[in-house]
Amino acid sequence: MATSPTDPAQVAAALEAHGYLPNDRIAQVVFLAERLDKPVLVEGPAGVGKTELAKTLAAVHGRPLIRLQCYEGLDEAKALYEWNYRKQLLRLQADRGREWDEVEADIFSEDFLLARPLMRAITAPSPVVLLIDEVDRVEVETEALLLEILSDFQVSVPELGTISATSRPLVILTSNNTRELSEALKRRCLFLHIGYPTVERERQILLTRVPDLPETLADGVARLVRSIRSFPLRKPPSVSESIDWASALLALGVDEVDAAVAVDTLHVLLKYQADIDTVAKDLADVDGQ
Ligand SMILES: Nc1ncnc2c1ncn2[C@@H]1O[C@H](COP(=O)(O)OP(=O)(O)OP(=O)(O)O)[C@@H](O)[C@H]1O
Ligand SMILES: [Mg+2]
Repeated sequence: MATSPTDPAQVAAALEAHGYLPNDRIAQVVFLAERLDKPVLVEGPAGVGKTELAKTLAAVHGRPLIRLQCYEGLDEAKALYEWNYRKQLLRLQADRGREWDEVEADIFSEDFLLARPLMRAITAPSPVVLLIDEVDRVEVETEALLLEILSDFQVSVPELGTISATSRPLVILTSNNTRELSEALKRRCLFLHIGYPTVERERQILLTRVPDLPETLADGVARLVRSIRSFPLRKPPSVSESIDWASALLALGVDEVDAAVAVDTLHVLLKYQADIDTVAKDLADVDGQ
């Protein structure tokens, strides 16, 4: 998609052409983000296509994807920039005898700066997609740093002054909601909740993601996964697990999921023995009726 989309349907078609099947809300929010030039904060359970949305948007626009993976302890040096001390040291050794003022101006120039994802995203020669993944994992102070960049699109380096954006990235932030994000961050973003897909959309996702999957198997898996999600489970199955399950059943030569097949392969779908036991018991009961 070379130009800006004219409506959400165009966004949906472009995403679908790249293998991502959005619901109406996803298409609408992405459309608005591009129109209003705002970051999107995507929130929702694990494995529902949050990260994949950013990756697919990069593919749709033919833009590079720059990813900042957040974790506890992520700091400015890893998110923004740091000085290349090794290179500075080498230059200092080579420059013995020169005036300090001269050397200082030299080693604190852009040549000695190591740009990290946020800096790379705003100084890229053409616009990129910036994915700030799992933002709920960083401390509140680091969140403030992200905010500054997202609102001003500039970075100030004390030794160099202000570095302004040469291009404005399309920014996608994702969160698993492990902690409450600041109001300030939320205010700057368009909010998008991605939940589990409907049976029909999950069926289509399975058919898109699992080559050679028969329609009946896709349908059976989508329906069963949907009902399994309504159980009181420690970790309900995500879309990625449902894809794994469909692939596994296909590999095992199964063409229909009945209760016996499901019980025999539940460990592909569920990641806790207690969850497997809960679902297996229910399926066995149904089977026995
Ligand atoms: N709407 C969709 N269309 C196509 N594929 C999808 C869709 N939603 C999810 N998927 C598939 O599910 C997989 C998992 O998605 P993704 O890694 O984006 O999850 P996530 O929400 O970022 O999870 P986590 O919170 O664990 O990081 C993707 O690789 C993709 O194959
Ligand atoms: Mg993710």
